[in-house]
Amino acid sequence: MTLKVYPNLLLLFLFNSVWTQTVRQVYDELDPEHWSHYAFECPKECFCPPSFPNALYCDNKGLKEIPTIPARIWHLYLQNNLIETISEKSFVNATHLRWINLNKNKITNKGIESGVLNKLKKLLYLFLEDNELEEVPAPLPGSLEQLRLARNKISRIPEGVFSNLENLTMLDLHQNSLLDSALQSYTFQGLSNLMQLNIAKNSLKKMPVSIPANTLQLFLDNNSIEVIPENYFSTIPKVTFLRLNYNKLSDDGIPPNGFNVSSILDLQLSHNQLTKIPPINAHLEHLHLDHNRIKSVNGTQICPVSIDIAEDYGFYGNTPRLRYLRLDGNEIQPPIPLDIMICFRLLQAVVI
Ligand SMILES: *[C@@H]1O[C@H](CO)[C@@H](O)[C@H](O)[C@H]1NC(C)=O
Ligand SMILES: *[C@@H]1O[C@H](CO)[C@@H](O)[C@H](O)[C@H]1NC(C)=O
Ligand SMILES: *[C@@H]1O[C@H](CO)[C@@H](O)[C@H](O)[C@H]1NC(C)=O
Ligand SMILES: *[C@@H]1O[C@H](CO)[C@@H](O)[C@H](O)[C@H]1NC(C)=O
Ligand SMILES: *[C@@H]1O[C@H](CO)[C@@H](O)[C@H](O)[C@H]1NC(C)=O
Repeated sequence: MTLKVYPNLLLLFLFNSVWTQTVRQVYDELDPEHWSHYAFECPKECFCPPSFPNALYCDNKGLKEIPTIPARIWHLYLQNNLIETISEKSFVNATHLRWINLNKNKITNKGIESGVLNKLKKLLYLFLEDNELEEVPAPLPGSLEQLRLARNKISRIPEGVFSNLENLTMLDLHQNSLLDSALQSYTFQGLSNLMQLNIAKNSLKKMPVSIPANTLQLFLDNNSIEVIPENYFSTIPKVTFLRLNYNKLSDDGIPPNGFNVSSILDLQLSHNQLTKIPPINAHLEHLHLDHNRIKSVNGTQICPVSIDIAEDYGFYGNTPRLRYLRLDGNEIQPPIPLDIMICFRLLQAVVI
């Protein structure tokens, strides 16, 4: 084997190392005073790219504590460390923070000094995935837009913790330890702009109550949900993406018009216990029903509009919108019944 060295590449490497060296010199040798008009302090454990003076990179450093954050910082990267506490002294001057990434650390609820998060009045994104939280931390700043708490040990949501989060659009609680009893009618109160709610991989047996009315994406995969209550979706009239893969839904658990909801465009019911295709709406575009116990499909019965009329005269713009249908992992023998093709004329793929 021969090794080719391209002159251009070599040049690039050289420039890179020169650049790195210059940056290092700035921190190691220059007195911060020389940057007076810029106040370019940089905690010694971290990296402060000169071209992004508002960002502070302290990720993957084996840190046990959060350094003192300079006032100019908007974006703070602390992921993948051994941090156990969030204390006020680190943040006294950090009033401009927009984004904190603390994923993959060892933060417990006790380790969060009371009121420290709430003081970050401009914070938009707070990432605390893969930590050791047992409840949703509180109080949180009202400015938050995204709160990511996946893969903790959260079993409790303190009452009122979301009540001031009018701008929160995304709440991710997947892979925690939530039981039905943790989700009460008041739990999500205040989340008037929430669009995405992820409670997948918890221990729910029931559909959560009082989901915020503007929710577009609701993810409940990998729970043990058996029943969809009657008219469940009437309180979330915008729900568009609904994922219930890996639950315990059977035919009996689904009311006659359970999923016949015109807002839903993407419905995922893989790995449940259905033996029939539930009634669907003509607006539905993607339907995942793989790995259930469906034995046969009657296109005439599942067609959301009258198939007889369609056969003779077409749908007059009423064509069912289904484009993608997964039915594999059931007990259905190919071929795909002709009446499915007659009903769903926009179908692009059927997996059987
Ligand atoms: C916070 O800012 C003030 C004023 O710039 C400064 O005197 C003080 O040392 C800073 N505190 C910390 C902990 O950096
Ligand atoms: C929510 O967002 C709006 C628009 O960006 C902003 O004016 C308002 O102050 C925010 N609310 C809070 C509590 O920060
Ligand atoms: C649900 O569990 C299955 C099997 O354990 C896994 O393959 C899948 O990725 C999980 N899905 C989610 C959304 O967690
Ligand atoms: C589904 O709902 C529509 C109204 O949104 C209704 O006209 C239709 O009959 C329902 N389909 C079934 C199978 O009940
Ligand atoms: C499908 O259902 C329709 C209406 O219920 C029925 O008339 C038809 O015979 C069924 N088709 C098959 C192949 O079972």
